[in-house]
Amino acid sequence: MAAAGSAIGLGNIWRFPYICGKYGGGAALILYLFFVFFIGMTLLLSELTIGRRTGHTPMKAYEALQPKHTMWRYVGLAGLITCFLILSIYLVISGWTLNYFWESVSGQLIGVANGDFAGHFAAFASSPVAPVVCLVLFAVLTLVIILGGVQNGIEKVSKILMPVLLVLVLVLCVRSLTLPGASKGLAYLFNPDFSKLTWEGVLAILGQALFSLSVGMGVMIVYGSYIPKNDNLFKSAMWITVCDTAIAVLAGVAIFPAVFAFGQDPAGGPGLVFNVLPVVFNSMGAVGSIVFGGAFFLLLAVAALTSAISLLEALTAWGADYGKKRSLSAILLTIVSCALAVLAAYSFDGGILNSYKLGDMSLFDWLDKLTGSYLPPVCALLTIIFFGWFMKKDSIMDELSNHGTLPTPWFKVFYSFLARFVAPAALLLVLLGSVFQAEFEVSTVLIVIALVLYFFVLPLGVAYVAKDKGRKNVLWYFLSIVLTPLFALLMLIALGDSGEKHRQRLIDDEHIRMKARESYKSSIAKE
Ligand code: PHE
Repeated sequence: MAAAGSAIGLGNIWRFPYICGKYGGGAALILYLFFVFFIGMTLLLSELTIGRRTGHTPMKAYEALQPKHTMWRYVGLAGLITCFLILSIYLVISGWTLNYFWESVSGQLIGVANGDFAGHFAAFASSPVAPVVCLVLFAVLTLVIILGGVQNGIEKVSKILMPVLLVLVLVLCVRSLTLPGASKGLAYLFNPDFSKLTWEGVLAILGQALFSLSVGMGVMIVYGSYIPKNDNLFKSAMWITVCDTAIAVLAGVAIFPAVFAFGQDPAGGPGLVFNVLPVVFNSMGAVGSIVFGGAFFLLLAVAALTSAISLLEALTAWGADYGKKRSLSAILLTIVSCALAVLAAYSFDGGILNSYKLGDMSLFDWLDKLTGSYLPPVCALLTIIFFGWFMKKDSIMDELSNHGTLPTPWFKVFYSFLARFVAPAALLLVLLGSVFQAEFEVSTVLIVIALVLYFFVLPLGVAYVAKDKGRKNVLWYFLSIVLTPLFALLMLIALGDSGEKHRQRLIDDEHIRMKARESYKSSIAKE
């Protein structure tokens, strides 16, 4: 539950929809699902295994497992630095959430002039006091729980509040889906349009998949080290992945119909949730706005809290693993991350430090890019290479089967196929693709990957697994080969088709948004 609490957070509700919106809706969603289940979950299970096997935090865990005279422990260090950066930007956004909670329950959001929530958000986020007060408050809350001991408190909190969050998101979905024009939003989320996917987008989506599962930076190694020896790691990883993904997709279903119904911009960036959802709550009347708005932002803050706790816990436990006092490390880390968070908050759009830029990006933008796109894939690549190629296979098998007491029919696919080949190859490919962005169109590379996957990797994988069950290798190989051209053909048709429809859809979308904006404004004016 605590690990699920770490995974489910702002990433699902705040970041996922805006990344999806920015990089083409359905196309981003499909890619996201692929990344989450094939790469993210593989990493999650690997990290949990490393953690439980060694009972240590990342650096020491790598030290315990690495071959002699190698320096894998620095991969652990890189992960922990990433944790620190994530914590800083996390505090900023969590602070915003607290503020919106307060504004909802005190009824202030009902009175926002002209329903201009985008303007309201911009004014709040760039003001000098409120965001900072909120982020410090949130940091203190996180610190208090860490000082009070995580294991009891946070598990209990997660067990009750996570299901409540799910119910609320479902209520929001229903409200959103019954708005006029909702189908446009659904079409945007579920119709793949690969022509909008850039390399930058693919990397951002991969980063988001890893960020959302809290993998790549060692947090799950720390949590793994707390998991009882008789728990089933595979089941835990499966549950965490499924819940995390379900909440993200539902958040998308709650948000996009509303975006289109109220004439907002789906590619609205980090402010998306804060601009769009208050409009939906207000459409439920004053009581709806206070009750649903209040409940929603409170739960979002709680989801953020369980994630922030995992970040601070990973860093604190690191100190403790090297003999430092827990409370002292926790307090120091909180102070330093708060300091960075304040700078980041001031550098957000319109803030007093926004004009200081590096390569046209402010500190906030840099932190968002680094922690969302660049660092998680790099750390994840190193982690999975270590797991697949440098850890002993026997000890992995031993840990995952609880010393041979659990059946592990999935082990071959997970270890020999996903962890050793698919995940590292995919991570490497996306990273290289982003470095040499200009060379190939994403859709060209996607087609090549699809062809390679379905002509070579899949048949070989199927044959490999089938052999184990005593079936004829060659037969399975040919069966897959016969089926794959069909699949590839379908995919090519889909890609060609989506490219053509794309331009028309863009024109339609803009038209609909314009109309909605006008009718929304005139209804507000009438009121
Ligand atoms: N997974 C969290 C979210 O989705 C963020 C996070 C990343 C937490 C990395 C811990 C470690 O919001």
